[in-house]
Amino acid sequence: NMDKFVTELMSKMTLQEKLGQLNLPVTGNITTGQAKSSDVAGKISRGEVGGLFNLKGVKAIREMQELAVEKSRLGIPLLFGMDVIHGYETVFPIPLGLSCTWDMEAIEKSARIAAVEASADGICWTFSPMVDICRDARWGRVSEGNGEDPYLGSEIAKAMVRGYQGEKMERNDEVMACVKHFALYGAIEAGRDYNTVDMSRNRMFNEYFPPYKAAAEAGAGSFMSSFNEVDGIPATANRWLMTDVLRNQWGFDGFVVTDYTAIAEMVDHGIGDLQEVSARALKAGTDMDMVADGFIGTLEKSLKEGKVSMQDIDTACRRMLEAKYKLGLFKDPYKYCDLKRPAKDLYNAEHRAEARRIAAESFVLLKNQNNLLPLQKKGNIALIGPLANTRTNMPGTWSVAATPQRYSTLLEGLQRAVGNQANVLYAQGSNLMYDADYQTRATMFGREIPRGDDKKLLEEALNVAAQADVIVAALGESSEMSGECSSRTELEMPDAQRDLLDALLKTGKPVVLVHFSGRPTVMTWEQQHVPSILNVWFGGSESADAICDVLFGDVCPSGKLTATFPQNVGQLPMNYNHKNTGRPLAEGRWFEKFRSNYIDVSNDPLYPFGYGLSYTTFAYSDMQLSADSMNKQNGELTASITVTNTGNYDADEIVQLYIRDIVGSITRPVKELKGFQRIHLKKGESKKVSFKITPELLKFYDYDLNYVCEPGDFNVMIGSNSQDVSVLKFTVTE
Ligand code: IFM
Repeated sequence: NMDKFVTELMSKMTLQEKLGQLNLPVTGNITTGQAKSSDVAGKISRGEVGGLFNLKGVKAIREMQELAVEKSRLGIPLLFGMDVIHGYETVFPIPLGLSCTWDMEAIEKSARIAAVEASADGICWTFSPMVDICRDARWGRVSEGNGEDPYLGSEIAKAMVRGYQGEKMERNDEVMACVKHFALYGAIEAGRDYNTVDMSRNRMFNEYFPPYKAAAEAGAGSFMSSFNEVDGIPATANRWLMTDVLRNQWGFDGFVVTDYTAIAEMVDHGIGDLQEVSARALKAGTDMDMVADGFIGTLEKSLKEGKVSMQDIDTACRRMLEAKYKLGLFKDPYKYCDLKRPAKDLYNAEHRAEARRIAAESFVLLKNQNNLLPLQKKGNIALIGPLANTRTNMPGTWSVAATPQRYSTLLEGLQRAVGNQANVLYAQGSNLMYDADYQTRATMFGREIPRGDDKKLLEEALNVAAQADVIVAALGESSEMSGECSSRTELEMPDAQRDLLDALLKTGKPVVLVHFSGRPTVMTWEQQHVPSILNVWFGGSESADAICDVLFGDVCPSGKLTATFPQNVGQLPMNYNHKNTGRPLAEGRWFEKFRSNYIDVSNDPLYPFGYGLSYTTFAYSDMQLSADSMNKQNGELTASITVTNTGNYDADEIVQLYIRDIVGSITRPVKELKGFQRIHLKKGESKKVSFKITPELLKFYDYDLNYVCEPGDFNVMIGSNSQDVSVLKFTVTE
C-alpha cells in the first residue's frame, strides 16, 4: 500500500533528495513568469527536482522523465505540470465565459477533454481550476475564474475537479487538479494584480472560501498558494490558511505548491530573507517551491539551525511522493508518455465539436432590439473591426498549449457559414487603440493585429459599410488585455474602436456588435446606441464557427452573466449579493440624500448577475411553496415555478433560485444564489421547475464561524436573473 511504499522509499533518501522532491523548476518554451531555472537536466540527474512545468510535447517530456528514472540515484519519476486552464490544443471558452453556460455537464466535459489531450501529450498535473471569486473587473484575472458567486463557483469547482481527475486518477487520461489561488487572490485591492488583500474572516468563510472548500472536498490532489497576503501574512507562509483551514478543517490531504517564485517574493513582502521565508513557508504547510530555489537552497541550513525539523521536511516529501503514487507514476513512470497518443487525441473532430457546442452556450446576448438577431444568410454582410481577422486572439488568455495557426478567424468562420448564400465584406476599421505607447503594449496584447493609419482604416471601413445590408462589428478587448498582469483602470471600449462603432452606427445601417472581452466591461454607451450586442468573451479554438452558429440562429443564445456588468468603473467592486446597509436606497429610487448611493450614477448595474437574453422569450408564472414553514433540524420545502417558452425558437433557459435570510445574528446578503437549472423548452412548451430547500442550504458562518441555520423568516426568489424574480416567504422554526 501507499504508506508502506512511501515509507520504504523515504528510508533510502538523503536530505538533499528529499528537498529535491519539493523543488519545481521551470523549463520549456512557455512563459508564465519572469525568473528562469538553470541547469535543469543536471539537477534532475542529481535527484534535485520533484517536477517540471511549461514543457510542451510528449517526446521532450519523455526525455526528461527518462533522465529522472534512469539517471537519478533512486529513479523517482517527475510530475509534469502545465496551465491547462480551458483546454489544451482544443480550447474551450475562457473560464469566465464557460461559467456563463451554467452547464455543469458541459464544464465537466471541457475539463475531461482537456485532461485527455494534456495527458496524451505527457502532462499529468494541471494548474486548474482557478476558483478565485472576483467582484472587481479591473483585475485582469477575472477572466480565469467563475465570476462573483460562491454557490455557482463551488458547483463549477467540483465539476472541474471531476473532469480532470476522473474516478481515481488511475487511468492514463486522468490528471491531477491544482486548485488556485489559495486564497482570496480575486479580492486584491483596486484590482491591481498581486496587490494586498485585507478581509474579515467572516467574509472569507461565507463569500470567498466556498469554492476552494468544495474543490478540496471533491478530492482535488493539490492546491496552489496565492501571491497575496491573507491577514498580514503572505498566503505561502500562512500557517492558519494552509494547515488550520485547508488541512485540519477541510480535510485536504494532497500537497500545496507555491505560485511562481512566491517564496522569494516574500522577501519583498517584507517578512524576512530567503532563508527565513523558506522556513516559514515549509512550516506553514507549503510543500513544493515553484522556481524560487528557496527550499532546495536554504532548508538544509535551517534544519541545522533548528528553524525547521526533519519532520517538517519529511511531511512535505511524503505528500509529494504520495501524489506520484496516486497518479500511478511509480508503477509506470511513462504512463503519460505514449508517443502514439497525440496524433489521435489532440484537437480531434470529436473534441472540436464539443468545444464549438460549448462555446456557443457561453455567449451572452446583452441586447437585441427589434430582433435584429438572428441574421439571415443573404445580401451583403460587412464584418468590420480589429478583432474580425485575427487568429491568435481567438483562444483567449491562458491557452498556453494552443496552436492558433489551426484556428479560424471570425472572417473565415463567417465566409464558411454563409457559403454562396451571401457576400461577406471585410475591413479592419481601426487599430485596437489610438495611443502610441499603448499601441506598443497592444502589439503584445493584440498579437497579430496590424497597425494601420487611423484615418485610412476608418475610410476603408465606411466604404465597406456603404455597400452593406447589415454590419457585424467585431470589437472589444484583445485576448491579452485580460489575464495575468492585465489590470485596467478604464473598462470602456478603447476610443479607437468606439469611434469606429459610432461612425458605423451613423451610417444608419443595422449594426450587430460582436463583443470580445475577458472581463465585465463598461458598455453603457453601447447599450444606449447599438441595436444588438452579443458578448462572446474568448470562445476558444472553435469560436469563429460558434459565433456564426449563434449569429445565424442555428443555436439560440442561452448564456447568463456570472459577474455583474457595472454602469461605470467607479461602481467597482460590485456584486449582486451585497449587504443591505443601514441606509439602503428604496427600490426603484435613483438617489436620496443620506442614503447609500452616488450622486452621479444610480446603484444599479448595467447588466445584473444572471442576466442574458435569448432569441425567444420566457414567461415565469405560478410560483409555489410546498409549505410556509420548515423545521431547522430536518425540514424540507419545495419551491416551484412554471416557465413557458412564449417566443418563436426552441431554446434553453437558466432558471435561478435566490434566498434572503431576512434577520440573522450577523447581517446577511440581500440575496444569494442557492440553486439553478438549465432547461430546454420547445416553443410554446411549459415546464414546472422545482427546487428543494433544506436547512443545509440555508447555513452560513456566524460571528464565531460556526456553520449554522438560524430560525426566522426567509424570502425565496425564482427568476431569469438576479433582478427579475418572483418572491415568496417562509419561516424556519426552532
Ligand atoms: O499557474 C500559474 C499561476 O496561475 C500564475 N503564475 C504562474 C503559474 C504557473 O504557470
